[in-house]
Amino acid sequence: MAKINAKSVMQVHAKTFGIEPIGWVFAPGRVNLIGDHTDYNDGFVFPVALEIGAFISYSRNTTGQLRARSMNMEATLERPLDAPAFDDWLDYVLGVLQALAKHQGAPLPSGLDLTIGSTVPTGASVSSSAALEIATLRAATQAFGMDVAPEVLAQLAQKAENEFVGVNCGLMDQMASSTGKPGSALFFDTMTLETTLEPLPTDFSFVTIHSGLSRQLTSGAYNERRSQCEAAAKAIGVPSLRTASMEQVGALPAGKTQDRARHVVTENERVLKARDALREGKMDDFGRLMTESHWSLSRDFQTSTREVDALVESCLSRGALGARITGAGFGGCIVALVKSGEEAALARSLRLAHPTAWHVATSTGLKD
Ligand code: GLA
Repeated sequence: MAKINAKSVMQVHAKTFGIEPIGWVFAPGRVNLIGDHTDYNDGFVFPVALEIGAFISYSRNTTGQLRARSMNMEATLERPLDAPAFDDWLDYVLGVLQALAKHQGAPLPSGLDLTIGSTVPTGASVSSSAALEIATLRAATQAFGMDVAPEVLAQLAQKAENEFVGVNCGLMDQMASSTGKPGSALFFDTMTLETTLEPLPTDFSFVTIHSGLSRQLTSGAYNERRSQCEAAAKAIGVPSLRTASMEQVGALPAGKTQDRARHVVTENERVLKARDALREGKMDDFGRLMTESHWSLSRDFQTSTREVDALVESCLSRGALGARITGAGFGGCIVALVKSGEEAALARSLRLAHPTAWHVATSTGLKD
């Protein structure tokens, strides 16, 4: 497979469809620094857009069909723009195009040819699907000259993933891909939809490391967690766990419902503290909050695995200021906070103890 970048998606496009693309777009994957399983509870999240993402070149066609070439899958698929879900990778593309048409109140003006190449690993909790969804929406809005705000694109993508693909995800990943910027963390209040970009320090790095264990988000465990949170909110008598207090959580009968709720309520507090720590340059505190978040996800929310726990512990014992599983969990990536300059040494020393682990991305502040 050719190296994936703007140039190669343009070249493959011309070769596949026999027509020069009109242009190309990019949308990033993300790593979440802290605040997991809070977005579907109206809570706070703190992701960073990564340098890796989905590239898409695009042109219009007159067949009324969606034709898409995936460089990663080495496959070309063709389907009517109004086709139902088929349970393959094209669902992410078709789903957002249908959501866009619905939002515009009219069918898309013509068919679309897309060439897709993504540098985001799939099933790794770094939002390969949100990158694909947002890149598709950017390609379509540019191809058809539509002006849709980035926040609205994120909402359309989430809707498509909920209703077309069938994953009951929150809004974090799509918002991070659509409005995030490398070099800053995106503080996002999923209840008020308020966002702020918080610059990362230049002397520390957040290193995203793949455990080597991939996960399957559609497997039901994610949707199950969401239902358990909704059950906890109902038992407490609040619209969502965002407004629940620790006293109310403590009054629930001991067991899974209470554990899930405890994670969400404490995680929201940690995100707010982490944002303050970042603003004040207190990176030791930030790291400590990340590690607390990991153990809360592992013990109360049960979205970690023994291998991922061991990887987190290895990072900490090798000098990381904090480390945690990121995203949906059940395998996938962790994110560790280290002083700048220590990224390579950490990755090297992890290699012996964790042969399946590999470095995915490094996020740090931008120097002016
Ligand atoms: C997945 C979902 C997000 C969020 C995370 C967990 O990435 O797509 O909406 O719920 O899991 O924080």
